Amino acid sequence: MTTLKAHSDQLFGLETSLKPYNTFGLDAHCSGLYHIYSAKDFIEFLHKELTPFRIIGGGSNILLTGDINGYIVKNEIKGIHIEEENDETIQVRVGSGEIWHQFVMWSLSHRLYGLENLSLIPGTVGAAPMQNIGAYGIEQEHVFHSLNAIEIATGKIVNFSKEVCMFGYRESIFKNTHKDKYFITDVTYCLYKKPQRLHIAYGAIAETLQMKHISNPTSSDISEVVIEIRKSKLPDPKIIGNAGSFFKNPVIDINHYKSLKIQYPDIPSYPVSESAVKVPAGWLIEQLGFKGIIRENIGVHKKQALVLVNYGNGSGRDIWNLAMEIQNKVREVFSIDIAPEVNIW
Ligand code: EPU
Repeated sequence: MTTLKAHSDQLFGLETSLKPYNTFGLDAHCSGLYHIYSAKDFIEFLHKELTPFRIIGGGSNILLTGDINGYIVKNEIKGIHIEEENDETIQVRVGSGEIWHQFVMWSLSHRLYGLENLSLIPGTVGAAPMQNIGAYGIEQEHVFHSLNAIEIATGKIVNFSKEVCMFGYRESIFKNTHKDKYFITDVTYCLYKKPQRLHIAYGAIAETLQMKHISNPTSSDISEVVIEIRKSKLPDPKIIGNAGSFFKNPVIDINHYKSLKIQYPDIPSYPVSESAVKVPAGWLIEQLGFKGIIRENIGVHKKQALVLVNYGNGSGRDIWNLAMEIQNKVREVFSIDIAPEVNIW
């Protein structure tokens, strides 16, 4: 029995709105939407030869600048399976269509460690390794073990180890040489059974734990604090359309940083290597007066300048125009190129 489900609009050859499928809440259309519940479903979809197509997870890292010429495959592959365990660690294989935060909550309910800092990140498990999601001192690569993906050209299942994925800051092989070539079906993470490698040094986490008089935090304690911090800064996409950080934090040469520091003594930075530092793009954007601006239906979030928002009926094109204006101004004033973190479609 096949579980492949065509969206009813597609059956009648009508266009399908993607508004419920992207966290910016943009009303772009595509030729048809297919919900994929298993690797087998995806293989069946490939046999239909419906091209071109694009794959969507939680739709939390895309900007739809217009209608999509082609089909959308919506990943709905679920399931959390314990593969292996010993006294220290546990290997968990997770369906790529699982909601990331629900997986984090599952790990906390099993008193596991490793995912707590990554609480409340929107999106699916399959998208996590693609852009190596990260927050509060942790990236998913810290607990990543391997993943399975279907090669679109051949329909073959390929296993990717951590080394092959080439994780970097919001980077992986799937955003570079392997872009649009694979459909990730499941991801295996290696989590800890005891408090290990806790990352609580990040300013706001340490402060909040101290305020709550928690000196030996559990993964749930850390998760609660992270959720509190995220909620205080980042808009809830269910209320205000957004895709989290719109730009990546740029890495610049140390000499460039030193010269900026003379002119802007408060410019923050994080060390990357002896010759480079990372600068928060939110700080740069705020200096230029963009923080909190509203342009009709879109704007820049008032509490976090790195987040572009759709207040309701904004268009992807308008958001992209604002993003380019910000990018140009940052280049003009600071001689720094900021690149989008969000995928522009
Ligand atoms: N800052 C400002 N003004 C702003 C925003 C930030 O001056 O409007 C400066 C402040 O100096 C602040 C520093 O930037 O101390 C860092 O800000 P924040 O802690 O909010 O983090 P971020 O660098 O802006 C990154 C990630 C977030 C992640 C946080 C916490 C990127 C592109 N973004 O943001 O990830 O939650 O760190 O670890 O690396 C996402 O990827 O969608 C995302 C939200």
